Amino acid sequence: MAEITAPRGTYDILPGESRRWQYVEDMVREIFHNYGYEEFRTPVFEHTELFVRGIGDATDVVQKEMYTFTDRGGRSLTLRPEGTASVVRAYLEHKLQGASQPVKVYYSFPMFRYERPQAGRYRQFVQFGAECIGTADPIADVEMIAAPVELYQRLGLRKFRVEINSIGCPQCRPRYREVLVEWLKQRSEVLCQTCQERMEQNPLRVLDCKEASCQEATAEAPLVTDYLCDECETHFAKVQDYLRSLEIPFVINKRLVRGLDYYTKTVFEIISEGVGAQSSIAGGGRYDGLVEDVGGQPTPAVGFAAGMDRLWLALESEKVEIPVSLDFDVYVACLGDSARGKAVDLAFALRNEGCRVDLDYQGRSLKAQLKSANRSGAKVTVILGEDELQRGVASVRNMESGEQQEVPLTELLSFCKSVL
Ligand code: HAM
Repeated sequence: MAEITAPRGTYDILPGESRRWQYVEDMVREIFHNYGYEEFRTPVFEHTELFVRGIGDATDVVQKEMYTFTDRGGRSLTLRPEGTASVVRAYLEHKLQGASQPVKVYYSFPMFRYERPQAGRYRQFVQFGAECIGTADPIADVEMIAAPVELYQRLGLRKFRVEINSIGCPQCRPRYREVLVEWLKQRSEVLCQTCQERMEQNPLRVLDCKEASCQEATAEAPLVTDYLCDECETHFAKVQDYLRSLEIPFVINKRLVRGLDYYTKTVFEIISEGVGAQSSIAGGGRYDGLVEDVGGQPTPAVGFAAGMDRLWLALESEKVEIPVSLDFDVYVACLGDSARGKAVDLAFALRNEGCRVDLDYQGRSLKAQLKSANRSGAKVTVILGEDELQRGVASVRNMESGEQQEVPLTELLSFCKSVL
């Protein structure tokens, strides 16, 4: 029978590795908690229409990458390719515009995109991110940059940079779009097939094309920052002022446009310098029109999401170790049936006290159990044999010093706790 493997573009998180995930997830939670964000959990799938309206039907995500299916009731549903549209849908559905504004939420969950898998690019991947809905204040934009930067710094990453840009608003962008389309049309024959196709529908994305010929052809293209209205200009300047005063280094990348349609004003990406092609470890920006696009009143909002998988690549490339230990505190070894009962009692009593305890499940020889005790990293091994039991004692070995002593059974629990 053919072996069944995990689907292409997915992966398993093995026992042991999951500890490293938990360590980072705990830190993510702590940072968002300090910033005053609350966790939001939304369904894994949504009505397809939400993403088409929210992300934009001219984007790669909607055109090529969605996992869309029809359920048994004939509805078109899609596994979420990102979190922002879902959060906005839930904000409206639960009438959170009536709550105190802004509504500040974070999430950490799997996303699904039918992309060509490679290192750092999966079909099921995990993003953590935040959305701040109901404020136009540039400080909210800055929080979205500061939070992942704080995480990366605390984890020990050094080789990353923050790139920011402003892509304007419905007041100023149409004029820029017109100028850009005109400019691109004159060079359309040197653009790649995809860019020729997206030139009219989504011209800003042409600036983001990875094809060398397109990059060369658009090197002198008009830049959106030269067309910003006063309001966008002031907003962008304030974002930069706050970043400077918080000493968060950044560079302005005037060609940064992002791949989702909902952005207005600030956009940003965090780029890891040690990671290969998929070097964008986080991205986000302001999306002042999305709440309205999804059916609500005009509401300013900003957010970001960061890829966990790419974070692992960045940590690996900078040789950052995540300090997690799988070591046990105590290993309880035993010989004989009556000793086994006592061993189980002791193991559970210690676990109740918060100790991490392992024991033998197979009735193996003492030698085999002591080998396991060594491998378990336990600081203390308790050895219970029939002979010891009869004398009302157990042997306790301090695995670091190698010292062994007999301890009365009645004092065993408190003794173990005192040496840990
Ligand atoms: P995005 O740039 O599409 O933005 O994704 C954010 C991050 O998710 C990327 O920088 C990358 O680290 C990770 N990522 C994206 N696709 C994959 C993939 N196939 N495999 C592994 N990692 C991936 C968004 O999703 C927006 N919703 C961000 C946002 C929130 N904007 C405003 N609020």
